[in-house]
Amino acid sequence: MKEVLWIEGGHPLKGTLRVSGSKNATLPLLAATLLTEEACVLEGIPDVQDVRMFLALIEHLGGRVSYDPACGRVCIEAKNVSSQTPPEEVVKRMRASVLTMGSLLARLGVVEVSLPGGCAIGRRPIDQHLKGFEALGAKVALQNGHVRLQASGLTGHGVRFAVPTVTGTENLLMAASLANGVTTIENAALEPEVAELCTALQKMGVDIEGKGTSKITVCGKKRLGGFVHRVCRDRIEAATYLIVSALAGEDVVLEGVPLEHMSAVVDVLGEAGVQIEAEDGRVRTFAGGDLNPCRVRTAPYPGFPTDVQAQLMVLLTKANGASLIEENIFENRLMHAEELRRMGAAIEVESPLARVLGPCKLQGTRVLATDLRASACLVLAGLVAGGETLIEGLHHLDRGYERMEEKLRSVGARVERIKA
Ligand code: EPZ
Repeated sequence: MKEVLWIEGGHPLKGTLRVSGSKNATLPLLAATLLTEEACVLEGIPDVQDVRMFLALIEHLGGRVSYDPACGRVCIEAKNVSSQTPPEEVVKRMRASVLTMGSLLARLGVVEVSLPGGCAIGRRPIDQHLKGFEALGAKVALQNGHVRLQASGLTGHGVRFAVPTVTGTENLLMAASLANGVTTIENAALEPEVAELCTALQKMGVDIEGKGTSKITVCGKKRLGGFVHRVCRDRIEAATYLIVSALAGEDVVLEGVPLEHMSAVVDVLGEAGVQIEAEDGRVRTFAGGDLNPCRVRTAPYPGFPTDVQAQLMVLLTKANGASLIEENIFENRLMHAEELRRMGAAIEVESPLARVLGPCKLQGTRVLATDLRASACLVLAGLVAGGETLIEGLHHLDRGYERMEEKLRSVGARVERIKA
């Protein structure tokens, strides 16, 4: 039986929402545990499907995992990593498994991964990852949908990315950590999750300079130690709930908001007329006021994150006038506009542009989620739509949002997961 999310819109939300640990910080940190034989401990990780799948992948590769989802703590000992091939079905279902390439290549000298292929939001190539591995001396062979990387020892080298790729930068950081000599990564991604991986690698004994900048220098080591690390809070989940509060909040307080990583989101919400009051990680927004239309372009960090674009689109259906959203990161990440149109939104799409006319009253209906952030966008729409909304495609939502229904019900939302 398929599960769908039932939402009855129009209920004002009151209470406190706590932000969970960052999924996109946790996944590379899990990959980094494969670089060492020693025990690594991660605390504050979110209990979401992508994390659970990654832990199962580490066990498949030979690692020992003891995970306590209730307290978000996992201890990993990758002493006996042997298999160098992440299972095909995992790679297909969780693109983030490409993050094991850097560690397995560095640790075992060989890795074979089925090409993750595209997904709903775009082609998602990994050419820059492969170019980087070649620069460090790996032989790259592509055959029938697989890529095989081989290197009898990696040698540090200069790498310059054509685009600032987040997981590409993370993969190269991990490969460089066990390479012989110095690697310089230029046009590195600036996302906070990359800097957090650098922090963990430094705890493991890697010398890294330029953390948090677009030029990172890594001096590889022969052996690395373990680490203990508490994962930062999820800036994308926090942005999602900030918009929930702006849309449907009567008096909602968010706790654990990593505001220092969210200036582009805060600026755009401010421009839209959302009043935000913040002190040491506790944030309150005041809805009710009129919302202004905006022009927003998604961009690599510190620009407006593509992962918040779908959620912002719902907010802008309430603005007085025409807003313009330009999606510059992924070539097909405007599909949620179609579902919002079926709920009555007035949105014209001419990729990469979406023109959102407001204010407009959304009406609940049956909708289909196409990717992780599109599913969050449909939940937001259901919370403010008239009547009932049924959302299919919940596997997307479960990949990246920890206990979303529970959190929303705790502030008064009428939302249930039902068997359809
Ligand atoms: C990471 O994906 C995130 N995933 C994505 O979050 C996020 O949307 C994305 O970064 C952009 O911020 C994780 O961190 C696990 P990229 P990633 O490589 O690394 C092009 C979510 O919702 N590119 O930075 O795969 C690519 O096509 C997910 O949590 C190449 O051309 O994204 C895209 O246009 C979705 N060649 C751009 O770069 C390459 O080799 C940015 O992609 C690699 C990327």
